[in-house]
Amino acid sequence: MRKRPFGTTRFMAAEIGLGCWQLGGNDWGSLDEKSAFEILAAALAAGVNFLDTADVYGDGRSETLIGRFLKSRAEEVFVATKLGRTAELYPDYYTEEAIRAATEASLARLGVEALDLTQLHCVPTEVLRRGEVFGWLRKLRDEGKIKHFGASVESMEEALLCLEQDGLTSLQIICNIFRQKPVSTLFAQARERGVALIVRLPLASGLLTGKWTTQSEFAESDHRHFNRDGQFFNVGETFAGLPFEQGVALADALKPSVPAGWTMSQMAQRWILDHDAVSVVIPGASRPEQARANAAVSDLPPLPGELHTRLREFYLAEVAPHIRGPY
Ligand SMILES: NC(=O)c1ccc[n+]([C@@H]2O[C@H](COP(=O)([O-])OP(=O)(O)OC[C@H]3O[C@@H](n4cnc5c(N)ncnc54)[C@H](OP(=O)(O)O)[C@@H]3O)[C@@H](O)[C@H]2O)c1
Repeated sequence: MRKRPFGTTRFMAAEIGLGCWQLGGNDWGSLDEKSAFEILAAALAAGVNFLDTADVYGDGRSETLIGRFLKSRAEEVFVATKLGRTAELYPDYYTEEAIRAATEASLARLGVEALDLTQLHCVPTEVLRRGEVFGWLRKLRDEGKIKHFGASVESMEEALLCLEQDGLTSLQIICNIFRQKPVSTLFAQARERGVALIVRLPLASGLLTGKWTTQSEFAESDHRHFNRDGQFFNVGETFAGLPFEQGVALADALKPSVPAGWTMSQMAQRWILDHDAVSVVIPGASRPEQARANAAVSDLPPLPGELHTRLREFYLAEVAPHIRGPY
């Protein structure tokens, strides 16, 4: 597993991390505790040292399980959590007291004295623009409650707003073969400012595995069922903003481009790693073998330049017009 500097921190992040939304046990169907620990163990055994979670994933369950799991492990693991989407804060009840209370709750669930990284969790653009929330995070950092802060955003407009903030360590963005806008809009500026980029949804919620047909179905409690068209949260999130049937057709159209002997998931994650502005990719996994397969992408060679060109043209001509929501 190769490592990359995490922004201006001293931490070297394994370039493939683990997204831990799935460990919450809701929004993705159900996942029992034993399976959650097996996924975490598989990821760490494969060299993963960066976990992404949030206070809302399973109403704290994802953080609690990570905290319990790491207690028994010797490895140095960087845990990035998020705040800002609980009913106490969202959509616009952001106060210093509420941010502090959310931070204390994450500290208790993770069982640590300081959070490695806390990220604003897709808070409204207007809250980012007002900016006072960053002042409260700086204060918590100065008090030692958090070591670093960052923001997870939906759009490039939001990403660029956050880049203006002193002390911002990282930005979490959607970037994959179906969502290439950050490459031209954000990467150069983020690198210039030493801000780490965490890439979520590398597989567009699984579309970029190429494993589905338009007949595929998801459990009722899976966001790919109940938020398929953005009914419950941002329309740009589930399936990276693509209508499901369109996404399946686009993944099918990509199949001839997958290098011989590779899977589409490998091509999709390698495509992201081929951009050196990226610090860490955080694929989610619902099974240990997925976490292992994803971690192994770090050892694959870069994609040929000609394939990058073809994928860029494919995105511009075939995909971009179908993405819904601001991005
Ligand atoms: N607003 C935010 O800040 C935000 C929003 C979304 C996600 N995130 C973070 O980003 C992480 C990743 O995003 P995501 O999980 O939504 O999307 P993703 O990584 O694009 O897709 C994950 C899904 O892809 C499938 N998959 C993963 N690896 C596979 C493999 N090797 N082979 C076949 N299928 C594979 C699994 O689907 P099946 O379960 O169907 O097998 C898995 O649940 C999350 O866990 C979370 O930490 C943050």
